[in-house]
Amino acid sequence: MSWLYRHLLRPAFFTRDSEQIHNQTIDVLGNVSRSRVLRSIISALYSAPDLPVERFGLEFSNPVGLAAGMDKHAAALPAWEALGFGFAELGGVTWHAQPGNPAPRMFRAVRDEALINRMGFNNPGAEAMAAKLRDWRERGRWPKHPVGINLGKSKITPNEKAAEDYANSFRVLRPLADFFVVNVSSPNTPNLRELQDKAALDEILAALQEVNGSVSSLEFRVSSSRGQSAAHPKPETRNPKPLLVKVAPDLSFDALDEILELALQRQLAGVVATNTTITRPDSFDDRLRRIYSETGGLSGRPLRARSTEVIRHIHNQTRGALPIIGVGGILSCEDAWEKITAGASLVQVYTGLVYEGPALVKHIVRGLHRKLRERGMDSIQQAVGTGG
Ligand SMILES: Cc1cc2nc3c(=O)[nH]c(=O)nc-3n(C[C@H](O)[C@H](O)[C@H](O)COP(=O)(O)O)c2cc1C
Repeated sequence: MSWLYRHLLRPAFFTRDSEQIHNQTIDVLGNVSRSRVLRSIISALYSAPDLPVERFGLEFSNPVGLAAGMDKHAAALPAWEALGFGFAELGGVTWHAQPGNPAPRMFRAVRDEALINRMGFNNPGAEAMAAKLRDWRERGRWPKHPVGINLGKSKITPNEKAAEDYANSFRVLRPLADFFVVNVSSPNTPNLRELQDKAALDEILAALQEVNGSVSSLEFRVSSSRGQSAAHPKPETRNPKPLLVKVAPDLSFDALDEILELALQRQLAGVVATNTTITRPDSFDDRLRRIYSETGGLSGRPLRARSTEVIRHIHNQTRGALPIIGVGGILSCEDAWEKITAGASLVQVYTGLVYEGPALVKHIVRGLHRKLRERGMDSIQQAVGTGG
C-alpha cells in the first residue's frame, strides 16, 4: 500500500459513508477519464508492467482486471487502463434501469478488510450503458485492454422471463464490448441465484447464444482488444463474443459441477469465480458482529479462502478446460498467486482497491513477475493450476 493512501487518503475516506466515497471516487476517475493530462499523470504513477496473457481469443496486457460492480455505468472506463488494469468488467447492467436497494447498502468491516453490500444492481440500464460506451469510442478514449460487461437480471422481470431479459441487454451491448459475463450469482436480487439451477441457466445460455450467433449485418466488429474507433467500423465478421458465467461461492460442489457440465456443453469461454458470499465469519468483535448482521454479500479478506477453493475445484473438475477468472479477497500479490496456482488464468479485484488503494494493481503485477522469475517460469500460463 502506498504511504499516501495508507496515511492520508484511507483514514479520511473511512470516516465517511462507503457508497458516498465510492461515488466521489468514480466522479474523480470520470474526470481523469476525460482529461489526457490527468490520465498521463495517473498512468505515470500507477501503470503496471506488461505480463501478457491470452485467453478466449483476447489479449490481456496483464492478468489483473477490475471486478464487476465498481463501474456500473462505464463512467470511468479510460481511467482503469491508466490505473494499470489488464482488463475491466463493467456493470452489472440490467435491461431495465433501476435504482437498487435503499441506502445505506454498502458497509465496511475494516478489521477484516471486508465489505458487505446489498446494492441490488443499481444501474442505468443496458441502453444507457450502450450510449456511454459509444461515447467513449467516439471521443477516441477506448482503452487498449479487453472490456467485459456483467449482465444481471432486472428486478421487475420474473425468473420465468429471465432469459429474455438477459438476451435484450446482450443484443444491445454485444457489439460494444469484448466479452460478457452472465451473472446469476448476486445475492442482492431476490431469487436470482435460483437461476444457477441447471435448467434455468441452460435457458438463459441458449437465448444468449442465439443472439451471439445471429448478428445483424448492420453491426460492426469491435471484438479486437485493440479497440477500433466507431468512426472506422469494419463489417461484422460474425465472431461470437466470449460468454462466461459467474458463480456464487456458496454453491455446493455438486451444484457447481452441474454448472460446469453445462458450461462445457454450451462451450462457454470460461467461469468467473466467485461472487460475494452470504456466509459470515465468526467474530468476537462487537463492531464486526454488528456489521456482519447486515444483509448482503460479503467480499474481501474473509472470502479469499472459499473463493480459491471453488477455483481449485473448477480447475480440477474440468482438467483446466475452462478458463477461470479468479476473484474474491485479493489484496496482495500473494493472494493473486494463490488464485493463479489454484487454476485461474486471470484475476480481478474490487475490495482490495478500497483497502490497498490505487497502487494495488501495479504491486500485484510486479509481484507476479517476481514469483515467475523465482520459479524459472516465463508466463502466467505456466503457473496456472500448479497448486502452490
Ligand atoms: C459494492 C459491490 C458491488 C458489486 N456489484 C457486482 C455486480 O454488479 N455484479 C457482479 O457480478 N459482482 C458484483 N460484485 C462482486 C465483485 O465483482 C466480486 O466478485 C466480489 O466483490 C469479490 O471480489 P473482492 O473480494 O475483490 O471484492 C460487487 C461487489 C461489491 C463490493
